Amino acid sequence: MAEIMDGKAVSAKVKAQAAEEVARLKEQGIIPGLAVVIVGDDPASRIYVNNKKKACQAVGIYSEEYALPADTSQEELLELVRKLNQEPKIHGILVQSPLPEGLDEAALVETVDPIKDVDAFHAYNVGKIMQGTYSFLPCTPAGVMELLRSSGIEVCGKHCVVIGRSDIVGKPMAMLLLHAHGTVTICHSRTQNLKEICRRADILVSAVGKAGFVTGDMIQPGAVVIDVGMNRDSQGRLCGDVDFGQAEKLASYITPVPGGVGPMTIAMLMKNTVTAAKLQNGIQP
Ligand code: GUN
Repeated sequence: MAEIMDGKAVSAKVKAQAAEEVARLKEQGIIPGLAVVIVGDDPASRIYVNNKKKACQAVGIYSEEYALPADTSQEELLELVRKLNQEPKIHGILVQSPLPEGLDEAALVETVDPIKDVDAFHAYNVGKIMQGTYSFLPCTPAGVMELLRSSGIEVCGKHCVVIGRSDIVGKPMAMLLLHAHGTVTICHSRTQNLKEICRRADILVSAVGKAGFVTGDMIQPGAVVIDVGMNRDSQGRLCGDVDFGQAEKLASYITPVPGGVGPMTIAMLMKNTVTAAKLQNGIQP
């Protein structure tokens, strides 16, 4: 039976570290600040944003929420981001994705000042990640790396298979595993022989967004299985991409959903906000 990787416990440690750093910064008169922008009324986004605000409160980070109606124009949004770029109380800016239809997310991301880009979505930060000289890492892949590290799982030399090639998870996840000296295969919807490739993974990361996508016959006995999926099953319950019942019998380590990667994402956002506050005050993170 697989060992469960407890994202709640590991995220609590990361947040406790962030809280200690916030307390030290406050002694120097610096209060890290995060602005969260949410447009429209996507229920999942609302839950994520509420959790981010709660985490800020717990860690001691000042937060502002900008909840805008779905019919907000691109120019209004750009104007808000430009204003937040200039706002000294705000060190991190996060625009919750996805945005309503008709808004240009890419243009918005490029408007966020890279030094306040706590999602690490801006082309400048993406480039720094490619080079391995980053200040910020995207929160979800960074959270996965922290879970692997805290579970004592060695990535060096391992065959890592990432299913999904999104800008938010799949691509940066592959890059971080590569930086950790893994041998990385990226799979996606057009991949041929997906099952065979997954079955050769020592570390399998699924970021597909489909309940029950990863079945037992895709898992090598003893593999580490990381489930980034956040889906609802036929009964409306939160679940990942992996058939947990089948996978836990085969894997050596596995992340549950909920309570695996999800809490790590938020903890890494807290860490990035502290880093942003330090960088903007000339302190080495
Ligand atoms: N939507 C889902 N995950 C994320 C994330 O990490 N950042 C932002 N901004 N939006 C998201």
